[in-house]
Amino acid sequence: MPISADHAAPAATRAIPFADLQAQRRRLGAGLDAAIARVLAHGRFIMGPEVGALEAELATFCGARHAIACASGTDAIALGLMAKGLGRGDAVLVPSFTFVATAEAVAWLGAVPLFVDVHPDTFNLDAASLEDGIRTATAQGLRARGVIAVDLFGQPCAYEAIEVICERHGLWLMADAAQSFGATYRGRRVGQIGLLSATSFFPAKPLGCYGDGGCVFTDDDDLAEAMRSIRIHGQGQDKYDNVRIGINGRLDTLQAAILLEKLKIFPAEIEARQDVAARYHEGLRDLVRVPRVAAGATSVWAQYTIVLERHDRDAVAAALKAQGIPTAVYYPKPLHLQTAYREFPTASTGLPVAEALAMQVLSLPIHPYLGPATQQVVIEALRGSLGAQGR
Ligand SMILES: Cc1ncc(COP(=O)(O)O)c(C=O)c1O
Repeated sequence: MPISADHAAPAATRAIPFADLQAQRRRLGAGLDAAIARVLAHGRFIMGPEVGALEAELATFCGARHAIACASGTDAIALGLMAKGLGRGDAVLVPSFTFVATAEAVAWLGAVPLFVDVHPDTFNLDAASLEDGIRTATAQGLRARGVIAVDLFGQPCAYEAIEVICERHGLWLMADAAQSFGATYRGRRVGQIGLLSATSFFPAKPLGCYGDGGCVFTDDDDLAEAMRSIRIHGQGQDKYDNVRIGINGRLDTLQAAILLEKLKIFPAEIEARQDVAARYHEGLRDLVRVPRVAAGATSVWAQYTIVLERHDRDAVAAALKAQGIPTAVYYPKPLHLQTAYREFPTASTGLPVAEALAMQVLSLPIHPYLGPATQQVVIEALRGSLGAQGR
């Protein structure tokens, strides 16, 4: 069923939300209440039937052989890394311009995240910097094991180039698809790219639940078995048979039930997000650097992020805020400059793009229920603010 403007409250009656979960709630209607009520009635809150049903639907949706639902996107990354036996002395190449979770799980395991730069147009892993990072790892006596490529803001990375590099150097590839579930890359759906793909169901993600949640995908039977075990304390035959070190990383049954309902409208929501992005593109591209989707890729537009190369970002954000329009900066500081991560190595040629983007990016309100009239208010306010700066 197509998204209807009816689900959004009239623009005049409220501030413009950055991501409108209430409009989605209205769209989901009584079906969502019934799904929650079913879980309350059967009472199997941990690993109840909805978890398996969700895993089957997610695997079918993206064409992966295995979907392992878990407690968060961070745990999805950790499950994959633990199943690969990552540990001390190992290095994993990660982009610096990302959410902290990408590198965090590597560091948990005593391994070294080695930061590489991103491409200025797509914000995604830059292949030349990745090659440089691999050389840096060798020069520092680290054992490079794998790459975590992040599909930032909803667009898959340029995977063909990354896959060639991984193959040449004997590295495994994990896609951090926390922001890109539902997107496609050259005929492949996110979830079937790389040895492992990890996604997040954090509420604001394109497919989000009402709390924390995540899922990791793989076609590898052995890895899938290991991750299913690790997610429940490393269980073997049953939960009091522990065959490996694990975590408590299960997805709640209630969240699975909610996601099953949200999955029904997800394809229509992706289309609606693409319409919103196209309207921003038309309304802004003559004035500011708008995001570019690479040929052969689609984005699910977790964020719509412009790059203010010649304008004062804080002044633009303040002008929009004064008109009731929220914006956000993803991310104000690249990971290699964060207090907790600045001792970790970086590609030897530096990370100038990540550092520049952190000072220039601004994300605009985007969600499937952002109708043309409300969006025009955002576009006009932004055009006015950029024009007022006269650059
Ligand atoms: C790129 C990226 N990786 C990992 C995560 C972690 O997901 P979660 O918040 O579900 O743990 C997020 C979520 O914010 C993310 O944006």
